[in-house]
Amino acid sequence: MNILAIETSCDETSAAVVKDGCKILSNIIATQVEFHKKYGGIVPEIASRKHIEVINPIIEQALDKAKVKFKDLDAVAVTYGPGLVGSLLVGLCAAKAIAYSLDIPLVGVNHLEAHIYANFLETRHSSLVTRNRKFPFVCLLVSGGHTMLVLVKDHGEDEVLGRTRDDAAGEAFDKVARFLELGYPGGPIIDKLAKEGDPNAIKFTRPMLDQGYDFSFSGIKTAVVNLVTRNPQLETRNIAASFQQAVVDVLVAKTIRAAKEYNCKTIALAGGVSANSALRKEMETQAKNNKLKVLIPPLSLCTDNAAMVGCAGYYHLKDKKASDLNLTAVASLRLG
Ligand code: KG4
Ligand code: ZN
Repeated sequence: MNILAIETSCDETSAAVVKDGCKILSNIIATQVEFHKKYGGIVPEIASRKHIEVINPIIEQALDKAKVKFKDLDAVAVTYGPGLVGSLLVGLCAAKAIAYSLDIPLVGVNHLEAHIYANFLETRHSSLVTRNRKFPFVCLLVSGGHTMLVLVKDHGEDEVLGRTRDDAAGEAFDKVARFLELGYPGGPIIDKLAKEGDPNAIKFTRPMLDQGYDFSFSGIKTAVVNLVTRNPQLETRNIAASFQQAVVDVLVAKTIRAAKEYNCKTIALAGGVSANSALRKEMETQAKNNKLKVLIPPLSLCTDNAAMVGCAGYYHLKDKKASDLNLTAVASLRLG
């Protein structure tokens, strides 16, 4: 089964062809980051305009790379939320037009669920096992807009154990980087800079470490601002490393605790912040110490991409959950 998948929820225009829910035949991603950089964040109007400009060529490239023609497609999967409404609508209109003209099923996918499904895609290291993922598992979903711990009981059965009460983890990285005048997006920049710094140089508090599964990151961000304002001589690389360590410690501790409490043998990472090298390393170490298996998608599947949407769409279709052509964008779509 060949699924054409489309993702336009934020500032990446992406189209992919996914075979049988796990084989990535193509996964084309056009990032708009250059256009938003000078504003220090995403400008929604620019995002939707750029999606419109590139959506058709990106879909054509995805088909070409996969060596698949429109007539070879069996379904179209598309992200319909959460995200920027003007951006979502671009992908949604394209998907509906293709599904309607080819008379094939359309399937709407929740972007957050798609991030989790990045763990079900075949990669060089995970062929064969992907289709037999063992449920239940705990997934730490950390992106620019969301931070949550999800108990994934089966396909389509997600229970959100906790979420952030204020900033998402990625948002905290981006805001701290902006304050330190490091550039945008802040996550990868802080990640790189932190490699040269001392993570123990500054002891930032670990917010809500022992309390439930909710998170709070705006306090660490404010702590960085206050500290640097009072101590301008502090080295930026040490601030970056110490801030990152504080965020990583909280994310890892809560994920491991949840896996134990809910008797899960496996934990998974998902979302843009799971590209963070310190988070990946610490999660692997702690998982090993606690005899847990850890799934981490390759970097290219952590940030926004359409292949993960195609994978999630495949399982919806298997469950006979196609959408109709009235499907509309839901900016604040929730998971679970
Ligand atoms: O999942 P994603 O591509 O888009 C959303 O759905 O939000 O996540 C983007 C977020 C941004 O906040 C970015 O700074 C963060 O992921 N990010 C990282 C890293 N790479 C991307 N954060 C920390 N370390 C990284 N290496
Ligand atoms: Zn995302």
